[in-house]
Amino acid sequence: MNNNSPNTSSQNSTDSTPIKRILTGITTSGIPHLGNYVGAIRPAIQSIQNSNDEAFFFLADYHGIIKCHDPTLIYESTKAIAATWIACGLDPERVTFYRQSDVPEIPELAWILNCSCTKGLMNRAHAYKASVDINNEKTDVDPDQGITMGLFGYPVLMAADILMFNATHVPVGRDQIQHIEMARDIAGTFNHKYKPLFTLPSAVVDDEMPLLTGLDGRKMSKSYGNTIPLFGELNPQVSPEKQMHKAIMKIVTNSQLPEEPKNPDDSAIFEIYKAFATPTEIADMRAQYAAGIGWGDAKQALFDKINNEIAPFRARYEELMANPKELEEILQMGADKARRHSRKQLDKTRRAIGIRPLAKLK
Ligand code: TRP
Repeated sequence: MNNNSPNTSSQNSTDSTPIKRILTGITTSGIPHLGNYVGAIRPAIQSIQNSNDEAFFFLADYHGIIKCHDPTLIYESTKAIAATWIACGLDPERVTFYRQSDVPEIPELAWILNCSCTKGLMNRAHAYKASVDINNEKTDVDPDQGITMGLFGYPVLMAADILMFNATHVPVGRDQIQHIEMARDIAGTFNHKYKPLFTLPSAVVDDEMPLLTGLDGRKMSKSYGNTIPLFGELNPQVSPEKQMHKAIMKIVTNSQLPEEPKNPDDSAIFEIYKAFATPTEIADMRAQYAAGIGWGDAKQALFDKINNEIAPFRARYEELMANPKELEEILQMGADKARRHSRKQLDKTRRAIGIRPLAKLK
């Protein structure tokens, strides 16, 4: 591990492996779907159950407002994401689980880091460049039209999220690797200019984890509207279980008939099945494809498999959604824990840059 860390001297009690400090954020601009569960929620919860690592998981609501300008969705998304993580087994005693906006030291640090971050670095950010490219395709449009300072400076706020807690490992999707590199870059600049206060974080990307295919055959993503919701829609008319069944039945397939042998490796149904089944079950399903399982039966088998894993979490999810007071208490406890770190880190940072009381008052 090469993270050049000035502040990670804590050791495991049993051996000399340095304790990892894992941190990740979830943007609050949508309702969790199966791809989020398989790609982020389940691995994060499992990874900390089996280790002594310290973990910081947070709801990135100040990131949420960059692209989502719908106040109701920001609120509902925050609630649904918090309820999902708790219902799926996240232990808020074991993990520091908080909402970004409850830690005011984070945006303060972001401002300070802005002053150690060149504009040129931000010009190279993929998300920003993609927005500029879209504008450049149109005639007579300023390349920066409609691009907010929030979008432009997004990686600086993300750097503040990470550097505030001296995270060593940051599990993210592939699209976020560049942002972690930018956080390292900003930390390096600050450490060099002032004082080595910030650990350089490493991105952790799971190469094994497939990106789930959505209902229409493209990557499952809320921006394509092709997701299978994990616990159903907000304010559902039909039960979440029925909704999930209905969504799975809508997965597109080719027009092969029952009894025709099928290729599992170009089937979205099989691909999602793999994310929920044991190796033996997967091998068995492969054999059933070869033997010509009908698409309807393959979908039913997929539903049974997913439902088996998710059903036990549903009651807890419903309970939390109906009683947001409990969620709010959990988040406030998390904020208290987070602020024990963030107050100290911000204080050190301010002192390092020369912002401190002029004299002690009695
Ligand atoms: N930008 C991340 C995403 O879209 C969410 C995020 C915000 C994050 N702050 C973070 C992830 C800090 C890791 C660390 O997925």
